[in-house]
Amino acid sequence: SFEGQAPKTWPKANLTPNARVVLAKRYLKQEDGQVIETAEDMIYRVASVVAQIEEENYGKGKKEIQALIKDFYNMMANLEFMPNSPTLMNAGRDLGQLSACFVLPIEDSMEEIFDAIKNAAIIHKSGGGTGFSFSRLRPKNSMVRSTGGVASGPISFMKVFNSATEAVKQGGTRRGANMGILRVDHPDIIDFIQCKEDNKEITNFNISVGITEEFMLAVREERSYDLIDPHTGSAVGQLSAPEIFNIIVDHAWKNGEPGIVFLDRLNQGNPTPLLGKIEATNPCGEQPLLPNEACNLGSINLKLMVIEKEGKMVINWERLSQVTRLSVRFLDNVIDANQYPLPIIDKMVKGNRKIGLGVMGFADMLILLQTSYSTEEAVEYAEKVMKFIQTEARIESQRLAEERGTFPNYEGSIYDGVMKLRNATLTTIAPTGTISMICAASSGVEPLFAVAYTKTVMDGTALVEVNPLFESFAKEFGFYSQDLMEKIANLGTVLGLAEVPNWVQEVFTTAQEIAPEWHIRIQAAFQKYTDNAVSKTINFANSATREEIAEAYRLADELNCKGLTVYRDGSREEQVLSTGTAT
Ligand code: GDP
Ligand code: 5AD
Repeated sequence: SFEGQAPKTWPKANLTPNARVVLAKRYLKQEDGQVIETAEDMIYRVASVVAQIEEENYGKGKKEIQALIKDFYNMMANLEFMPNSPTLMNAGRDLGQLSACFVLPIEDSMEEIFDAIKNAAIIHKSGGGTGFSFSRLRPKNSMVRSTGGVASGPISFMKVFNSATEAVKQGGTRRGANMGILRVDHPDIIDFIQCKEDNKEITNFNISVGITEEFMLAVREERSYDLIDPHTGSAVGQLSAPEIFNIIVDHAWKNGEPGIVFLDRLNQGNPTPLLGKIEATNPCGEQPLLPNEACNLGSINLKLMVIEKEGKMVINWERLSQVTRLSVRFLDNVIDANQYPLPIIDKMVKGNRKIGLGVMGFADMLILLQTSYSTEEAVEYAEKVMKFIQTEARIESQRLAEERGTFPNYEGSIYDGVMKLRNATLTTIAPTGTISMICAASSGVEPLFAVAYTKTVMDGTALVEVNPLFESFAKEFGFYSQDLMEKIANLGTVLGLAEVPNWVQEVFTTAQEIAPEWHIRIQAAFQKYTDNAVSKTINFANSATREEIAEAYRLADELNCKGLTVYRDGSREEQVLSTGTAT
């Protein structure tokens, strides 16, 4: 494991006191309950381990490695880029497992089902999240040949996965997180849609229905569709597509679950179709993967990519290009610095070399650009920024391919003969639940959750803090008062406050106040230039109707989203993960 401390002459990390608390709780090395490294030491540890791979694998000289460590260090200490949590926690340490996302196969035999449970436990222990397709399991009440009994079906096995996850609990770092997907044409689909209702048996899962194009067509044509036995591949019954669609909508309306994922679209984006079909994603939905594949993520902080030029706030394209390219190199190195929990995962990951570079602080960027989230202009910024990152990321991946070779499964991939790439995928929009707190940025591509937050400080007292961007706007545009700040602390929003100019109210609009259509259009704008998928919650007012949810699904489909997760304000939520704005 890595020994060493950040050089004293290097700049300190630009972390808020709150971010340092988050790091000390879960990320910094501890010995006998005492924290024994600083945040700077952690960043230095990560930068060193990830840079040194270039010495081992590509024979780079000491001088170049030193310079690279410093570049990586600066980019993280400035909070311009942050890798996913497992990389921060585990690089240069005994676990050495650096990926956030895994998908494990579940085949239909007792051995293979319990292999998956065991492998998931090993992954959870290291802080990774696991996704599964349960679609290959025979439906309940099917025959079990060896015993003459009847099968209990996918949902009963999900409960076993859930209990195993519950028992692991990961020694206090991260609890286990799972995604469970079932194809809409599996005979047990109705049980699946209802499986989290009125019970506490599947609490460690997010669930999504795997929607097919055939199903969506049947919904539009208001007809029935075939249920397929996963063993024989033949139709064993029919259900009314509009009826199933309504049951999904009804449950999502009630408590935000299940989500939906467009399986055929995931496969249209599958870069290596010869290696198999994509059947599942990681827990928050942003990373579709083949069975036994893993992916490491990292996100660029867009809040820091805005500068003043000739008195105007503009995007700092030059720095965004540098950070994007350096991040791709960083994430490509992580693939080799990583210690995988299973040999087969090691082989799959190193064959495709997928990375997931994304963004956080998009809402903050819009605020700095004085643009409301629910506008055409915001959609244009989303497309422009993500297109730029995608393009720059490809340029760097092509450069790496020249230097290090294409990903080993390049032949026969969708890039074969089109462009030589080092990585089968480059971009992913992760929720950035924790790393956005570390960077004091808005999470992923979500709008602000509130204009004021409650923070729990070290001794357990709760402090209310108004968004620092709002405070600086209030001062700059002359409507600051202590009174106003206290008011906002109570309300959490500035909508309708007479003291706040209308345009500022619009710029600081929060998730609840934004119409679902704009949420979806922003998601679609990012998806357009993202190889993998976009993690996003579509917020609805408590008064939203089922028809409005149905409308959202149709719009997401029409705009080429890869999936959709909705949440109606005040509906009971028992989610595995939530992007907490308060800590
Ligand atoms: P961050 O790097 O901690 O900010 O993680 P994100 O919120 O961006 O989540 C990215 C992915 O990491 C998720 O889709 C999951 O695959 C995984 N993940 C996130 N949070 C957890 C957790 O609490 N436990 C586990 N086991 N996995 C998680
Ligand atoms: N599919 C995709 N994403 C999901 N999330 C929760 N459940 C699902 C699901 N079934 C996401 C939220 C948020 C993140 C924390 O997890 O929408 O983006």
